[in-house]
Amino acid sequence: MELHHCVIPAAGLGTRFLPATKALPKELLPVLDRPVIQWAAEEAVAAGARRLVIVISDGKELIQQHFTVHPALEALLEERGKLAELEAVRASDHLADFTWVRQDEPLGLGHAVLCAADAVGDRPFMCMLPDDLSHGPVPVLRQLADAYAEHQTPILALMRVPREQISRYGCATVAESDGSVHRISAVVEKPPADEAASDLAIMGRYVLTPDIFDALRTTEPGAGGEIQLTDGIAALIARGPVHGIEFTGELLDVGTPAGWLATNARLALNNATFGAALRDAQGVVSA
Ligand code: G1P
Repeated sequence: MELHHCVIPAAGLGTRFLPATKALPKELLPVLDRPVIQWAAEEAVAAGARRLVIVISDGKELIQQHFTVHPALEALLEERGKLAELEAVRASDHLADFTWVRQDEPLGLGHAVLCAADAVGDRPFMCMLPDDLSHGPVPVLRQLADAYAEHQTPILALMRVPREQISRYGCATVAESDGSVHRISAVVEKPPADEAASDLAIMGRYVLTPDIFDALRTTEPGAGGEIQLTDGIAALIARGPVHGIEFTGELLDVGTPAGWLATNARLALNNATFGAALRDAQGVVSA
């Protein structure tokens, strides 16, 4: 079955970015010339998604506006001959079909994904957390979709991290491996480093099968008192094979102020529009 749906949870409070995110959803912070959520949407489309199911909460309606056609703005840009800007605005409107879903209470990532159940229906789907940007020749979600085409099982994005950092992530235990593809025998959300079964962190890209929704309906609150997607995936592992791939390329952090700043700087340095200005500024700073 093809993967046409991608769920993007964007209901979190963005407390790490306060006060910047007091009124502005963190997903609308710009990275170079476009908001974080647009980078995520573009990656999903590059992986084959046609319908993006975005989970928002109270106060995050501006995200919806970003992807809504704005006829008055388009008419104005056209009238003034600002054709590059017009094209950029239209590109964000017409990326994909959108379904907007609300998470009324902040009960955790697993609960946010469960809120998308009706919108997704009885089909496999992709899921991505917009806190990281994919950077490299093949978007990470595309790599997962390709692995799904081969294995037809849930697929997790895995990355080796220094042991002391594993407690920030979901952690996967490997049953057997074929190169960078692993069959997973267990997953645990944010284990203490000295109890972690491996150094393989689950990163925020997934292909999931619709039985995840049943699993999440009966998942009790776990780490941090929240309903964890990782715990739902643990239930899937009990029912059938789940694979993980150590992806190629990088995921760049835009979910913390320092990561967001570093990602902007790194992408800007190699960017035709922004590179020169940033190098100039660096010259000023180091002078
Ligand atoms: C979430 C997931 C966790 C995963 C992480 C990747 O945690 O629950 O399993 O490792 O994303 O960034 P969060 O970072 O939202 O606490």
